[in-house]
Amino acid sequence: MQLAGSTVIVTGASAGIGRETALAFARRGANVVLAARREERLQALADRLRRIGVEALVVPTDVARPQEIERLVQAALDRFGRIDVLVNNAGFGFSGTIEETTEADMRELWDVNYMGAFLATKAVLPTMRSQRRGHIVNVSSVVGKLAFPFHGAYSATKFALIGMTEALRGELEGSGVTATVVLPASTRTEFFDVQRTHDGHVSAPTGPVQSPAVVARAIVRSVVRPTPEVNLVPAFRLAFGLSAFFPFLRDMAGRQFYRRSGGRPRRAPGPDPAPRRE
Ligand SMILES: NC(=O)c1ccc[n+]([C@@H]2O[C@H](COP(=O)([O-])OP(=O)(O)OC[C@H]3O[C@@H](n4cnc5c(N)ncnc54)[C@H](OP(=O)(O)O)[C@@H]3O)[C@@H](O)[C@H]2O)c1
Repeated sequence: MQLAGSTVIVTGASAGIGRETALAFARRGANVVLAARREERLQALADRLRRIGVEALVVPTDVARPQEIERLVQAALDRFGRIDVLVNNAGFGFSGTIEETTEADMRELWDVNYMGAFLATKAVLPTMRSQRRGHIVNVSSVVGKLAFPFHGAYSATKFALIGMTEALRGELEGSGVTATVVLPASTRTEFFDVQRTHDGHVSAPTGPVQSPAVVARAIVRSVVRPTPEVNLVPAFRLAFGLSAFFPFLRDMAGRQFYRRSGGRPRRAPGPDPAPRRE
């Protein structure tokens, strides 16, 4: 896709991968609609995008609220008259066993990490279909393919995003619209500071750690040259393949991970985790 002059919506643009993704699209000449709850951060980012030479629109949005998603899409259309790319990136982590996860925790994870993306996708598709051009990028995770102890609730939302994206791509055949799922590994963002737990424990990044800018550039590339799936760590490709053919290996690794942690998520070094953000 030619990005100069196109309209890109990025959810979760106030931090981390979303912020870098907005910058990466702007550097390719795209106008960007910035969505998240923290408006001041979005305004500061919008100023930066305008200095790059593109237009930026801030729409404070809580993706767990369906009416705010409708408003976001309408605001993008009112301002730019088209929507070429939607990046469903807003999300947060949760660390704790399934037994410790309350119904309220699970529903909130589900509303933000999955329903937000599902509703935003449905809201942009009529426009993208009528344009005969569009790309939906869903930011899942490597734990959307391979779940580990303490990440079951979060993983479930990320598995769901992969399922939705795979089905959607088939349903969009011949429409000029397509979809990509992105599987970041541990990425240096605020994710681990703000992730929820039921008792205040937080887990630290495990495995290879990426920068959000690297993930963002991969997201942009996946739109320029449409790619079904983005996975930046070759070792995970091998792990996914082994897990599919030999599920007992996955279970062995999970049990070992659980034993090594003494049955608790690892406490991250540094101060106590941040309180819940409203
Ligand atoms: N960092 C990692 O290791 C990692 C690995 C795999 C996948 N991911 C996924 O990558 C995506 C981005 O995460 P990140 O690492 O960049 O984390 P981050 O730095 O914590 O950023 C998360 C973004 O999501 C937004 N957000 C959270 N809840 C929201 C809500 N209800 N409505 C609207 N926006 C909301 C936050 O903005 P506000 O608080 O301002 O609303 C923020 O902009 C997430 O989907 C995450 O699951 C991250």
